[in-house]
Amino acid sequence: MKDLHTAGEHFLNVLKQQFLRVEKMKEQKDFVDYKKLKTIKIGIIKGDGIGPNIVSCAEKVLNAILQEEIEKNIVTIKEIEGLTIENRARLKQSVPDYVLEKIKDCDVILKGPTTTPRKGDNWPQLESANVVLRRELDLFANVRPIKIEEEGIDWVFFRENTEGAYTLGSKGLNLGEIFVDFTVSSVLGTKRIAELAFSYARKTKRKKVSIITKANIIKTTDGSFLEICRDVQKNYPEIEVDDWYVDIAAAKLVDRNSRKDFSVFLLPNLYGDILTDEAAQLQGGVGTAGSANIGKRYAMFEAIHGSAPRMVEEGLSCYANPTSILRAVSLMLFHIGFFEKAEKLEKALDFCTKKDSKVKVTGFKDGATTEEFYSFLMENF
Ligand code: IPM
Ligand code: MG
Repeated sequence: MKDLHTAGEHFLNVLKQQFLRVEKMKEQKDFVDYKKLKTIKIGIIKGDGIGPNIVSCAEKVLNAILQEEIEKNIVTIKEIEGLTIENRARLKQSVPDYVLEKIKDCDVILKGPTTTPRKGDNWPQLESANVVLRRELDLFANVRPIKIEEEGIDWVFFRENTEGAYTLGSKGLNLGEIFVDFTVSSVLGTKRIAELAFSYARKTKRKKVSIITKANIIKTTDGSFLEICRDVQKNYPEIEVDDWYVDIAAAKLVDRNSRKDFSVFLLPNLYGDILTDEAAQLQGGVGTAGSANIGKRYAMFEAIHGSAPRMVEEGLSCYANPTSILRAVSLMLFHIGFFEKAEKLEKALDFCTKKDSKVKVTGFKDGATTEEFYSFLMENF
């Protein structure tokens, strides 16, 4: 009974914090206008595992592309240290305070994968650094483009990034006999991701937005997500909307006949996590897709995949595919307003990753190294 009382108090606290979060959301200003900044500050975080290897490659590419802007101080690039798993474990903080301060001093971040401790390994059970950064910087939109050229597929996922099953994922209750986790959605949180997805569809003249939920079962949070997204659509009458439950959506993505009809996806956090890995795999593997975490004040760009500790253990780090983080560079360039440069990098990446490309990264010793791919990319830039 005492346990139940404590659990009740815990839940009350969780709710209070969520209401506070919504209050903060109400105070938010509009998106940063990068054109108005004297200098755009880019922070680079190398991360763990294969991170340092692929991010070094991305950093060289970024420096080459922005050479002139760096010389003129329009852009500054600086490395931010201290987000390694060793340092986080030592300080017992997912994102050490002093690192977060340095991050908040930048406008945009290019981030390598960071290891998330899991049950059974030797690290303290810290919350994922990604989840903390998305929450602390309020990066509410996770935008993930996927292209499969030979099928004419050009998808863009708008994954809600600060709510759903993630934000309270470390706040569950272990009551010995039973275990409870919480998932949360809010009107404002849903509206802002829906607005972004529909306005993107309008701007890029896309015809359809597909809302993905499991609203037939998760009736309260997913139910309201679906309803609010449909409501936002009313301001975008030219854009068609359909909705799918996540299970059948996952099935349709592997159906060649159906999948070409999708365009923009709008979905809560967890389903977005799962379907974007599936979509990346269809495109050629998780090593091929970039990811943009967008908020009103900050934005963070990263590879869609993790730190690949298995590759490191097997001595394969130098064979890691940098394409995913390079796609993230291109998303970053686009976001801060260097459209032509972003396009040029996209084109070079498309060329260098073609099926019959002479340099192929496989992640194994039979493939090219990260460094070889980098040289090939620069030759074709
Ligand atoms: C992603 C990753 C992260 C997530 C992990 C690393 C916390 O899988 O960006 O999709 O689950 O969101
Ligand atoms: Mg994921």
